[in-house]
Amino acid sequence: MDETKSQPPLLYPPYQSTIRRAPSRPLIRLPQNFGDLTAPVYGYLPLGDTDNDLTRQHAGEPLGERIIVAGRVLDEDDRPIPHTLVEIWQCNAAGRYLHARDDHPAPLDPNFTGAGRILTDADGRYEFTTIKPGAYPWRNHPNAWRPAHIHFSLFGTSFQSRLVTQMYFPNDPLFPFDPIMQSVPDEQARQRMVSRFELSLTKPEWALGYRFDIVLRGRNSTPFEERT
Ligand SMILES: [Fe+2]
Repeated sequence: MDETKSQPPLLYPPYQSTIRRAPSRPLIRLPQNFGDLTAPVYGYLPLGDTDNDLTRQHAGEPLGERIIVAGRVLDEDDRPIPHTLVEIWQCNAAGRYLHARDDHPAPLDPNFTGAGRILTDADGRYEFTTIKPGAYPWRNHPNAWRPAHIHFSLFGTSFQSRLVTQMYFPNDPLFPFDPIMQSVPDEQARQRMVSRFELSLTKPEWALGYRFDIVLRGRNSTPFEERT
């Protein structure tokens, strides 16, 4: 399959922010120098014990449905990508971000920040414990609601290798109405942004499990935002 069909275009007018954000002139390739390629962004900062457990970052437990999100980061040949920084951010169970610009009338949760990070292990694996995010309205068009999602960022060895995507949950009825998801032209590629429920990841009497593998490039690539 043509890889371009698996990636969203920079300009997709139904997703209104892309009208302001998309470049109107041809891109200029900046020359890469050694410093750009070798300087890790977060690699020297130690990861904390609770960085990949968003339910243990405060004095109490956040409200909502506890979930495990786990998977592997892979290249186009299914080879694992070890020691890659995976960061996530998300709203709480009520659909509210802990962010100054989120004025959606839903409650904040004092026990939930909504940000986490982990390095993949030698087999490219990562795992987060978190709360299932809620849907939220976003004013892109009348009655616009985002399907529940978790934002993902992946860093290789430098800022220049950052990739950003969103993970969705299976069978969300909002998929057909979401211009961010629909900006990815190919249906199979859209499905690669949807996690799958996996009983073996579920921890009995504790949390449901969702599998989300991320493929960095190639014909089975995960769709990424603003990749040029
Ligand atoms: Fe979001």
